[in-house]
Amino acid sequence: MFDRYGDESVLSVREIAQPVAAPDEVLVRVRVASLNPVDFKLRAGMLRWLRMPRLPAITGKDFAGEIAAVGADVKGYAVGDRVFGSIDPMRGKGACAEFVAISTKLIARTPDGVSDERAACLPVASGTALQALRDIAGLRAGQSVLITGASGAVGASGVQIAKHLGAKVTGVCSTSNVEYVRSIGADAVIDYKSAEWSEVEARYDVVFDAAASSTFGTARKRLTDAGWYVNTVPRPAVFAAAAWARVTSKQRCSPFMLTTDAALLTALAELAAREVLVPRIARRVALDQVPDAQRAMAAGTLSGKVCVTLD
Ligand SMILES: NC(=O)c1ccc[n+]([C@@H]2O[C@H](COP(=O)([O-])OP(=O)(O)OC[C@H]3O[C@@H](n4cnc5c(N)ncnc54)[C@H](OP(=O)(O)O)[C@@H]3O)[C@@H](O)[C@H]2O)c1
Repeated sequence: MFDRYGDESVLSVREIAQPVAAPDEVLVRVRVASLNPVDFKLRAGMLRWLRMPRLPAITGKDFAGEIAAVGADVKGYAVGDRVFGSIDPMRGKGACAEFVAISTKLIARTPDGVSDERAACLPVASGTALQALRDIAGLRAGQSVLITGASGAVGASGVQIAKHLGAKVTGVCSTSNVEYVRSIGADAVIDYKSAEWSEVEARYDVVFDAAASSTFGTARKRLTDAGWYVNTVPRPAVFAAAAWARVTSKQRCSPFMLTTDAALLTALAELAAREVLVPRIARRVALDQVPDAQRAMAAGTLSGKVCVTLD
């Protein structure tokens, strides 16, 4: 938990009252939480122009576990059901906790054969990739896509989803991750340590900038005439570029903001059950190691997801 915004030192493990499920909520006993960059960005106050969680706040959004209690109005779920989901952190709730009380709009069932660890990795990272590629860019079979941050949690999900959709995939990552990105299905890999992807002689139907490492102005040279550019960090400049693109061309620019709901989570569960989505786990930690893990994530020294085990 943290009760002021700042670096990892503001985090501490505390005993607090167990939450109670509201009529439209379930109480979930968390088995695994997974960390995302948004967790340390919210904790550090980096998104204050956009969102600030109410304090005191519990860190983390994504979790998997089983239902321990069901609110009076909830239909379709029972105690003992395995579920996973993603918390809206704005009211100070978080996933790095033994229990979470959450609306059934923000959970889905964990399929048999999918571990809590794999389920906990899905919502933010894989949800972003699915919503960006399938719903916003409308990526379809036969099209081409370039994905930056292809070794990271969002980008690797993007590679797996794009291949599943039948697209031709080029991944961008650093030297040590080239083999990994190839192993998850990328048809081509650009090592950004030795080549600039914006300079290659190719045009793509979609540029999914999961690393948020470029601008629309640079990326549009690599887009087809009606291509989509999706950037996962919605800075004001990306909104301006989106407006500019709409009036000057058929190309489109999207400042991406994830919207989580049960339908998206259910689609992710199906892809995980079919092993289309297989997360790479960089580190498994206990609650008291979350500050160290968030420091490593912020420094960019981890490749893959961090899972927090609550058992
Ligand atoms: N707007 C939203 O709703 C939303 C939702 C989800 C995520 N995001 C944002 O999306 C970003 C990625 O999230 P994530 O969970 O995938 O983080 P991550 O797991 O830390 O992955 C980031 C990846 O970026 C790569 N990278 C760093 N510099 C690069 C460069 N110059 N060119 C190409 N790749 C580069 C790294 O690859 P190497 O290790 O190979 O260098 C790393 O694997 C974060 O900023 C996150 O906050 C936004």
